[in-house]
Amino acid sequence: MIEPSDNETLPNILSVGATVPEKVLTNEDLEKSLDTSDEWITSRTGIKRRHVLEKDETPSSLGVEASREALEDSPVGVEEIDLVIVATNISDMPIPGSSPLIVEELGLPSDIPFFDLKAGCSGFLYAIDVAANMIRGGGYDKILVIGLEALSRIVNWEDRSTCVLFGDGAGASVIGDRGDRGRILSTSVHGDSSKSKLIRLEGGGTRLPPAEGSEQDERYYLEMEGKGVFKSAVNMMKSSSLSVLEDADLTLSNVDWIVPHQANIRIIKQLAKSLGVGMDRIVVNLEEYANTSTATIPLAFKEGIDEGFIESGDLVLLTAFGAGAAYGATLLEW
Ligand code: UT7
Repeated sequence: MIEPSDNETLPNILSVGATVPEKVLTNEDLEKSLDTSDEWITSRTGIKRRHVLEKDETPSSLGVEASREALEDSPVGVEEIDLVIVATNISDMPIPGSSPLIVEELGLPSDIPFFDLKAGCSGFLYAIDVAANMIRGGGYDKILVIGLEALSRIVNWEDRSTCVLFGDGAGASVIGDRGDRGRILSTSVHGDSSKSKLIRLEGGGTRLPPAEGSEQDERYYLEMEGKGVFKSAVNMMKSSSLSVLEDADLTLSNVDWIVPHQANIRIIKQLAKSLGVGMDRIVVNLEEYANTSTATIPLAFKEGIDEGFIESGDLVLLTAFGAGAAYGATLLEW
């Protein structure tokens, strides 16, 4: 957790890159194979489309593309990156994680450290918190943070209650202390392990190892207690948002834009209502991408910048919740 103090310069989010696969699956496409409808999906979630990887595409290739964008957009050279953190819930393979694959493909110095971080859909904000603290601790200068997810690979495409909600995507940021934008004002990460079963994938780990015939077993796919998650989501994003504001001695009236985790438009509207903030100050893009887990925050943040909503000097509040239950927020001046 980072709080500003008078004599301390916090690191910056120097850049944002984001990408999604080309292949698009619309609600109408899903109607053809599932007992669902565009009307149900749109009214219950706000989602219209999602982008998914083709069979021969790898999740880490998305991370590489988003990272290239983030590196090009930052004043930092590839050779200056001294750590890579990849927030993801499901890496290309169990061992190693996706981070070394991305370091190699990006052509970063081969001797730099890297690690994967798993914190549900809040992974990108957890990674920012960790990176900012590591820079503040003095051991690192320029950290590449990536949020990378390919949930299309682990949802059950016959389970209408989950598969319609998710898409694939990746986002990346360079965190460092050079530059005049993206100054982090405070970060906060939180957990509620009493909710660890709400979103889960049981099969494939050591308790329930990969097994023959597992494609018939629902425990080998992402499962979720949707209503339980819904109930907690607003409180989690609200409390972490208020926590970063309090740490920075600011209030919601100072915030220009809120970029929430893009899981469900109804959750986002309830968050806005409970914070007393108009929807015209909230960045929403889930209609096009659905829930891309660790990638929703950079995807929406970047879209806000590219579309010209988020301007230089704006105070931006990023907030997320997800499996674990892990949740958190980051406050920055763009
Ligand atoms: O990153 C965090 C990830 N997860 C979330 O954020 C999920 C949070 N939860 C949600 O977004 C909502 O709970 C859902 C969108 C998952 C579900 O919405 P809901 O309003 O809570 O619906 P429900 O689960 O109560 O289901 C209502 C009905 C059920 O039918 P019956 O039992 O009333 O006959 C479901 O079987 O809707 C049915 N249903 C569907 N119908 C058509 C569930 N999924 C579908 C579907 N199409 N895709």
